[in-house]
Amino acid sequence: MKKKQTRRKFLKSTAVAGSGFFIVPRHVLGKGYTAPSDKLNLAAIGAGGKGFSDIRNSADGGVNNVVALCDVDSKAAVRARTLFPKAKYYKDFRVMLEEMNNDIDAVTVSTPDHVHGVAAMSAIGLGKHVYVQKPLTHNIYEARQLTEAARKYKVVTQMGNQGASHPGQVYMEKWFDDGLIGDVHTVEVWTNRPVWPQGIPVPTEKPDLPSHLDKKDWDLYIGPAEYVDYHPLFYHFKWRGWWNFGTGALGDMGCHIIDSPFRVLGLGYPTEVEASVGSIYKRDWNAEYVPQGCPPSSRVQVTFPKSAKNNSKVKMIWSDGGLRPFHPDLIPASDHLGDEGSNNGVIMIGDKGVITCEAYGANPRLYRKGEEVLTMPEDYNGGILHLHYPERGHQKSWTEACKAGYQSKAHQALTSSFDYAGPLTETVLMGNLAIRSYTLAKKRMDGGRNFYGRKKLLWDGENMKVTNFDEANQFVTRPYREGWKLI
Ligand SMILES: NC(=O)c1ccc[n+]([C@@H]2O[C@H](COP(=O)([O-])OP(=O)(O)OC[C@H]3O[C@@H](n4cnc5c(N)ncnc54)[C@H](O)[C@@H]3O)[C@@H](O)[C@H]2O)c1
Repeated sequence: MKKKQTRRKFLKSTAVAGSGFFIVPRHVLGKGYTAPSDKLNLAAIGAGGKGFSDIRNSADGGVNNVVALCDVDSKAAVRARTLFPKAKYYKDFRVMLEEMNNDIDAVTVSTPDHVHGVAAMSAIGLGKHVYVQKPLTHNIYEARQLTEAARKYKVVTQMGNQGASHPGQVYMEKWFDDGLIGDVHTVEVWTNRPVWPQGIPVPTEKPDLPSHLDKKDWDLYIGPAEYVDYHPLFYHFKWRGWWNFGTGALGDMGCHIIDSPFRVLGLGYPTEVEASVGSIYKRDWNAEYVPQGCPPSSRVQVTFPKSAKNNSKVKMIWSDGGLRPFHPDLIPASDHLGDEGSNNGVIMIGDKGVITCEAYGANPRLYRKGEEVLTMPEDYNGGILHLHYPERGHQKSWTEACKAGYQSKAHQALTSSFDYAGPLTETVLMGNLAIRSYTLAKKRMDGGRNFYGRKKLLWDGENMKVTNFDEANQFVTRPYREGWKLI
């Protein structure tokens, strides 16, 4: 692929100039007018589903241009193509990046998880800024590679865990930094996901492709994953439940929920992880065995060492599939945990108090013995910009940082650039590594199974390696299908 790119260099140099040298000076154009050179030229990889709101929010009502849209599914792309009729439409992001390299400044990546790594890396390698949906990648190795590549190519990055830009995160951090709950030793995190079919047998029927898709489209959809024939259970939204494409309940919500304790406590790579998963019985005594599918429910315990901010080892316990934690002593029996329905949430238990919040860092509450529960004032903004639309703010701050340039103040203020989002995603995906290890099995002569991966896994974060059970290391990364590479 060509190296290039004049347009981005131009944007960067105008940003560095600071006072703003534009082809047509602002004062000539008038107040409120955005000079063409002030606009980012955006492209989307994945323009349906979440991709639609990602590119729409990044375009910011005309503040930026959308020059190209890529989606393998022409029907899914209709809404975005209607909103951005001037954008060139592609089905293969490799072709789009090759052909439009000189016209694109920044790219949103909102495909299913299995494509994030290869798509984002192709864009970063060409010097494009990227906004990548959560989880940043499908596996730990890809997350590390993207984090390092973002530094190498000096691009501005943001992961799509929009809760990172919720003022609740700043407020909880303030509570913690002020010592109100002391050092935290235990964290509970949970979600009501999966809310799609998961833990079910691999479908065996082979339905025809929907009429608007052809074999080439399906092949592009499979991308770097292992080839399987079309089935609606592997497609829109439902792909989440299969390891070939998705990352299960943890991958879906972990980056939204684990974000709060990871940020507030200043956590880094974990040192230990252990998992267990729910079973399904269709026949007496013989559990269904579907290693291709993410489990119907899981619990994962991740251990972190002391951090620079938290002077205690932390045990973080994740629950999903309808399981949730129990009330810690300081939360009254009839108070809800996390959100109102206790569907998703966080509890951080310290030696002096407890904080609980919803997903996305919303509605934090603090409990201390014998004291009134503390909440966040409604008008608190935590210094976060664009508060009217918390999610739009997350994308808008990214586009503004892209214009300001690599390591600008705006870039450094981003709440989920890859320097942060990479290690967070690695931590989330550690849970999946443990879940997959837990389901490793050898068939016995009597027809039963020996589950030989049901261990506590010891983790060397720097070197991305399980040190006490080598077979689990196969889940650190994955083989790519021919024609697809992390470049
Ligand atoms: N931050 C959030 O709140 C949030 C919410 C929903 C989804 N997401 C994330 O967004 C991503 C997409 O999820 P979704 O629910 O929109 O899925 P989806 O299946 O509804 O949409 C994915 C889109 O990507 C397209 N696509 C698939 N493979 C592609 C490829 N190789 N090249 C180009 N386009 C391709 C599909 O055709 C579809 O339009 C996931 O990573 C998910 O975790 C984030």
